[in-house]
Amino acid sequence: MTDVSTRILDAQQAGINHAAEILRGGGLVAFPTETVYGLGADARDGRAVAQIYEAKGRPAFNPLIIHVATLEMAQEIAVFNDAAQRLADAFWPGPLTLVLPLRPNAGLSALVSAGLPTVGIRLPEHPVAQRLLAAFGGPVAAPSANRSGKISPTTAAHVAAGLSGRIDAILDAGACSVGLESSIIGFDPVPTLLRTGGLPVEAIEACLGTPLASHTASETPNAPGQLTSHYAPTAALRLNAQTKRAGELKLGFGPDSEADLNLSRSGDLIEAAANLFQYLHELDAQNTPIAVASIPAKGLGLAINDRLSRAAAPRP
Ligand code: TXA
Ligand code: MG
Repeated sequence: MTDVSTRILDAQQAGINHAAEILRGGGLVAFPTETVYGLGADARDGRAVAQIYEAKGRPAFNPLIIHVATLEMAQEIAVFNDAAQRLADAFWPGPLTLVLPLRPNAGLSALVSAGLPTVGIRLPEHPVAQRLLAAFGGPVAAPSANRSGKISPTTAAHVAAGLSGRIDAILDAGACSVGLESSIIGFDPVPTLLRTGGLPVEAIEACLGTPLASHTASETPNAPGQLTSHYAPTAALRLNAQTKRAGELKLGFGPDSEADLNLSRSGDLIEAAANLFQYLHELDAQNTPIAVASIPAKGLGLAINDRLSRAAAPRP
């Protein structure tokens, strides 16, 4: 879908109803969640789902997350085991995606899960996402609303910069509060961390009472973790930088007098996560090499470091 005019919809009930109408007609709508903006389509409509891949320019082997309004709808689509049920009870609505066996009669387009027998599913917490899902009344497939390989969008303006003219509408509800994509847990059969994200690993492990297995890279990419270069700004990015070199801009963390932007002056990882993609977008607009301070590898710092190392990886 190229050369359509993209409408910016106000996130009041009229705008939300209009967005639900576009989804019903097989169109594409970007909408806010607490993690990042998603690019939504009716998950039961194969043509609509195919347009997501087209608009993002995304490699077709990457399955999409579906978003639902209620736990009941999730249970009609996927088979929950005990551990998955415990995580859903504790953390939904919220920044957690569960990869579960897909019920064959769930009615989803096979393109959503890229032909896998499992589906990634989540119940978002953002009130506008919830109202949109309720108004639409069905499952919405939605990857992050950016061009493939680019920085994830945490504002409607980020979405417009990448996808304007390629999608029908953007529901604008300001900045996302978490700012990192959801954490993804699979069960094959033990609970396994497929992607670090907006819900800290420690919280998930405390809920389960056992450590998570971690996913080792395999031939078939099944979380963006396996695509080495991802979330990439145009300019080069240097990690664990202590001081700024000539010509660089610095993204700081903690007290840092030479930082051009600081993820969190007080060293708060939650604040840093919320600022990460916004600041990468701002630095990217300068088209100048970026030096990034080191970030502690605990809590949300694990997900922040994952995104930064992907942004710094050699480009394809
Ligand atoms: O926070 C989020 O999760 C955002 C918002 C919009 O909800 N969505 C998001 O979607 O980050 P996306 O498509 O950019 O990343 C979803 C990742 C995919 O890269 C895919 O590899 C993994 O989830 N995934 C989805 N279904 C899967 C499945 N059946 N098995 C393994 N991984 C799956
Ligand atoms: Mg993404």
